[in-house]
Amino acid sequence: MTNPKPLVLGIAGSPRCGGNTDLLLEQALSGADGAGARTRRINSRELKIAPCCHCDKCLPEGICATEDDMQWLYRELRRADHLILSSPIFFMGLPAQVKAMIDRCQALWVMKYLLKVPVALASQSKRRGLFLSAAGNNRPNTFQPAIATVKAWFATLDVDYSAELLFGGMDGREAITAHPTALRDAFLAGGKLVRG
Ligand SMILES: Cc1cc2nc3c(=O)[nH]c(=O)nc-3n(C[C@H](O)[C@H](O)[C@H](O)COP(=O)(O)O)c2cc1C
Repeated sequence: MTNPKPLVLGIAGSPRCGGNTDLLLEQALSGADGAGARTRRINSRELKIAPCCHCDKCLPEGICATEDDMQWLYRELRRADHLILSSPIFFMGLPAQVKAMIDRCQALWVMKYLLKVPVALASQSKRRGLFLSAAGNNRPNTFQPAIATVKAWFATLDVDYSAELLFGGMDGREAITAHPTALRDAFLAGGKLVRG
């Protein structure tokens, strides 16, 4: 039997516990919960995920041969109805933990683009994705490389890049709490992700 409540998977990308993007994710998941979703949060900093070694062992079946936390995370990524990635910017890109997770989705890329097997196992036909991010500086191009990576990753997962909330000038651990609208914006974005 399928569960009528959509499942929202939130991935925390920061190695810093309780920091800006953690707080944004918490709000977005509360918003999703308020809109009637089931939510699950995964902290990338707690996972053991090796980088992709380009061994090409995923080519025949879209199954990665590296045994670590990615093996259960593949299933979570495939079965979620909607996805939130909340991650800081490190050296103009995504932190190593997040990038390792994304690179390991090469197995799902093989599944989708080479084997033509559906990646999404979700009950909702249209999967939506939300990207939340914070960075220290306020320059206009700061988020662009990370956005490009997240868009490519979402496309591989058959997730629409539906919305983003990007906050520059956030160097202090909880600087986001001094922003006039950021946490409220994240709450509303989480609800909108579910409602469509
Ligand atoms: C290793 C490292 C690299 C960073 N690189 C950048 C950067 O390239 N551009 C930027 O604006 N901020 C950079 N920052 C600052 C973080 O993006 C910023 O502090 C962010 O708010 C951290 O989010 P968090 O509290 O969720 O961890 C960097 C921080 C660290 C620790």
